[in-house]
Amino acid sequence: MTKTKTISHIGVLTSGGDAPGMNAAIRAVVRACAFYGLDCTGFRGGYKGLMNADASRMDARSVAHIISRGGTVLKSARCMEFHSHEGREKAASVLKREGIDGLVVIGGDGSFTGADLLRSEFGVAVVGIPGTIDNDIYGTDRTIGYDTAVNTVMTAMDNIRDTATSHDRLFFIECMGRDSGFIGLQAGIAGGATEILIPEAPRTLPELVAKLQASRRACKSSSIILVAEGDQSGCVFSLAKQTAAQLPDYDVRVSVLGHIQRGGSPSCADRVLASQLGIAAVEQLQQGNAGIMVGVRNNALATTPLSDAISQKPTPCPDLLRVTGIISL
Ligand code: F6P
Repeated sequence: MTKTKTISHIGVLTSGGDAPGMNAAIRAVVRACAFYGLDCTGFRGGYKGLMNADASRMDARSVAHIISRGGTVLKSARCMEFHSHEGREKAASVLKREGIDGLVVIGGDGSFTGADLLRSEFGVAVVGIPGTIDNDIYGTDRTIGYDTAVNTVMTAMDNIRDTATSHDRLFFIECMGRDSGFIGLQAGIAGGATEILIPEAPRTLPELVAKLQASRRACKSSSIILVAEGDQSGCVFSLAKQTAAQLPDYDVRVSVLGHIQRGGSPSCADRVLASQLGIAAVEQLQQGNAGIMVGVRNNALATTPLSDAISQKPTPCPDLLRVTGIISL
């Protein structure tokens, strides 16, 4: 953790893939600044907006009624130029010129990597807020957007279940999560998946086929296999094809949920988490703490060095993996 001097002006941006609840986090950062009498500037379009000084001052009223909106009013991007030292130098000089002495970055591990370099190379006081639907950030039990996304996947599974049952079909549903299986595991249990395929608990094709044969024997009228996009099978369509070839009596369909998982009004849990973490980020900067991420662990506010949040990988709860094996008989 880096100790910084007194803070009077904070910048905020959203970076990487958007996530429901990012607006609630922006709102909390802006309102915390107003509460503590600090200036606040929002940068549009992530690090690109920071490098190009695409910025506006934000006051308490500028974030009215955004808590319920998905996406991010500051817009987001994945910025290649910021991967270079020159790009980050440009960003640091904008911060200096604007008199900004603390930066809040709302995003995932890629965004935190950039934030930590900005700190180590140019001494910028940065605090990260974990905002990604993937929940793949070490140092927090939940990331902003995850709860909304798993509820979206669960609802999609419920809808697909209706048609799957009507036609006695087997569905392969692909969900997001990049190379982690948090979304798959959580939504898969809630949506009653017969099998959940996630990178952390790989299954072979023969295992999957055996499970589906057992389902048939148990008179299941429909089956859903939830496949996380990072699963070893690589392609849900070819997995479905290979399975269908071994189970000719199954009528198989595939549904890739895609970016609907990233949108929508944030859940209550995401709004509350974002509000808590937005305020915590500002308070940490005020207390002179930087180079950290704010999160929640065991229901308490927790800070983690950005370097740890980037380099370590959280793993899904082993007990939930056990639960899936029992509940999907
Ligand atoms: O990190 C969030 C996420 O939605 C992942 O789950 C997914 O793999 C990726 O972003 C998709 O990124 P893009 O919107 O750039 O296609």
